[in-house]
Amino acid sequence: MDLKSQINLEKLPKHIAIIMDGNGRWAKQHGKPRVFGHKNGVIAVREATEAAAELGVKFLTLYAFSTENWNRPKLEVNALMRLLVETLHKEVETLNKNDIRLQAIGDISKLPERTYQALLQGIEDTKDNTRMTLVLALNYSARWEIIDACRRLAQQVLAGEASPAQIDEQLFSNALNTRDIPDPELLIRTSGENRISNFLLWQIAYTELYFSPAFWPDFRKEHLYQAIIDYQQRERRFGKISEQLVQ
Ligand code: FPP
Repeated sequence: MDLKSQINLEKLPKHIAIIMDGNGRWAKQHGKPRVFGHKNGVIAVREATEAAAELGVKFLTLYAFSTENWNRPKLEVNALMRLLVETLHKEVETLNKNDIRLQAIGDISKLPERTYQALLQGIEDTKDNTRMTLVLALNYSARWEIIDACRRLAQQVLAGEASPAQIDEQLFSNALNTRDIPDPELLIRTSGENRISNFLLWQIAYTELYFSPAFWPDFRKEHLYQAIIDYQQRERRFGKISEQLVQ
């Protein structure tokens, strides 16, 4: 039986987040520069986005550039930023055709001007789409986001709009970049690394984690299906009492 038909569409995660890892090692394996890995990573981005939208997933978040990634060689950072601009220009039409809305989380105003403008344009051009939201985490780190939320809340308290005692999980969540996005039920990391690397730390409190050995440029629809099937099996084991399990 093919993988896709094994997915229970009634128990689909509403939000899947992915740490796309292994571009550099994939390129090395092919005897090419790291940028070659990132370019092929775009193919995997397309595959994951298409597969998620076709299934009916409502939010897909991709970790595209972390705050720590600025420490990479300048050449690689510049190439990644150019690739982002190129991809955004090329893919916005496809996003619109497929009714997919683009959003971003992270300190995006600190991106190079061209990348920032391409991103804002992409967000604006797709803002009315409703089938799925594709969230790009760019210049993102979870600790930055949490500190940013603390500053916002402190400002609200200073302005007399909230009291410290009023700060609860709801108010805190609303101060995060992800305020309009539900927490992910499933987080995937590729390339066999078993780390979270400063991604969505607040939001993954109850998230199921799935680690795939595939390098990101090799990631295809089937990898996403496999991760969802694995997630659904865990849900079946832990989400219900044994009498409710379907044999
Ligand atoms: C991780 O692999 C990948 C990145 C830091 C960049 C991801 C970017 C893309 C897939 C391309 C552009 C994305 C979009 C959304 C258009 P790595 O370089 O850390 O690999 P390594 O761990 O093997 O060195």
